[in-house]
Amino acid sequence: METREAKPVIFLFTFPLQGHLNPIFQLGNIFFNKGFSITVIHTNFNSPNSSNFPHFTFVSIPDGLSESEATNPDVIDILHDLNSKCVAPFGNCLKKLISQEPNAACVIVDALWYFTHDLTDKFGIPRIVLRTVNLSAFVAFSKFHVLREKGYLSLQESKADSPVPELPYLRMKDLPWFQTEDPRTGDTLQRGVMKSLKSSSGIIFNAIEDLEPDQLDETLREFPVPLFCIGPFHKRVSPSSSSLLTQDMTCLSWLDKQASKSVIYISLGSIAAIDESEFLEIAWGLRNSNQPFLWVVRPGLIHGTEWIENLPKGFIENLEGRGKIVKWAPQMEVLAHRATGGFLTHCGWNSTIESICEAVPMICKPSFGDQRVNARYISDVWRIGLHLENKIERVNIENSVRTLMTSLEGEEIRKRILPMKETAEKCIKLGGSSHRNLENLIAYILSF
Ligand code: UDX
Repeated sequence: METREAKPVIFLFTFPLQGHLNPIFQLGNIFFNKGFSITVIHTNFNSPNSSNFPHFTFVSIPDGLSESEATNPDVIDILHDLNSKCVAPFGNCLKKLISQEPNAACVIVDALWYFTHDLTDKFGIPRIVLRTVNLSAFVAFSKFHVLREKGYLSLQESKADSPVPELPYLRMKDLPWFQTEDPRTGDTLQRGVMKSLKSSSGIIFNAIEDLEPDQLDETLREFPVPLFCIGPFHKRVSPSSSSLLTQDMTCLSWLDKQASKSVIYISLGSIAAIDESEFLEIAWGLRNSNQPFLWVVRPGLIHGTEWIENLPKGFIENLEGRGKIVKWAPQMEVLAHRATGGFLTHCGWNSTIESICEAVPMICKPSFGDQRVNARYISDVWRIGLHLENKIERVNIENSVRTLMTSLEGEEIRKRILPMKETAEKCIKLGGSSHRNLENLIAYILSF
């Protein structure tokens, strides 16, 4: 029998944001199940809970973020700080790990660690990059410099609905814009990520190539490295939590009491924030829709407030149990619950693929980055959701919830998402594209 020592070892360098931790831990489990040993290299900042992964080895590196840097609301700034401060700690850590590990196979890094290529080249270890977005968003990001040069990223409101000649399906307002004080920091990020991707030994996507065949062709033309679409990751492994916030499990017993497909679930992910007026408009829209709702209001979601203290007095009581608000939910279980019938989402790729896999149609309220691209694909290309295009007003929320949950149009949308769920199920089985791509990826890693 194979001993633990004889197994090839993959070093996973995780990026400390929720939407990046979930897929990389799922990926770690996929490789573990295929016979690899997994060593996780992580920062102290947003450190994952190692007790949920007793089968992995964990090594932490000091990231050197000060308290004010770690709580900076500008996520792009945090990202750059981490990339500059982790160079030496990651280098020292990797050097030590490689010297102690005769079976080191490769390093898998999140694409947001754009500094790592010099070090992996220096230590002579192959570096594969995990890109957590889908192919459509990836193609849009890869044209970032062209979009910037042509002035599309800073255009006037009057052009917001104009098509983007370089990116079929997208409108100017869908381009992957970053939430940052200084737009140049977004450009630096993109340049760094692109350079790091192009010099890598391969790129892994939590994506399904059958859903984005044209974007795959385009990516293959543009990128001179092997690409592996092996999603949906979370459907390949048993659930395990890499959640940074505690999931409120009372959501599930509340859902148990609701009628099938009656509940609209609302979550805007782990980074996006809204202002207080938007929060109140969503609250009234949900209430006026008369539909049961489960709403994740993450601490920090609403600018300038702690949590939901600004809801009008008696708002919750007057719902008489028809609505539940929590700080963080077990999202995958919520989406898989028979009572959940719709998802008002910020369209982060994890949330989108999780929703597709449960055939839950969406209402899109994107904020930044890939979310805008995903929203356009959900509403106009795949036609599996509605898009909140305009200013957030209670009447729009109420109408979109009613349309999705109770109208014929909603029924049609629900029908269209079913074949996508089936594709997601089939692709990871024998003969499916993601199954084949994973086998190829494993053979590729073992050939190093
Ligand atoms: C960010 C970007 O917003 C996103 O566009 C990019 O693709 C990844 O990084 P995030 O805001 O975290 O992502 O959204 P998303 O990609 O949807 O990931 C959120 C994850 O948190 C999902 O896996 C979801 O299941 C989980 N989650 C969310 C919970 O477990 N509980 C919740 O209450 C909400």
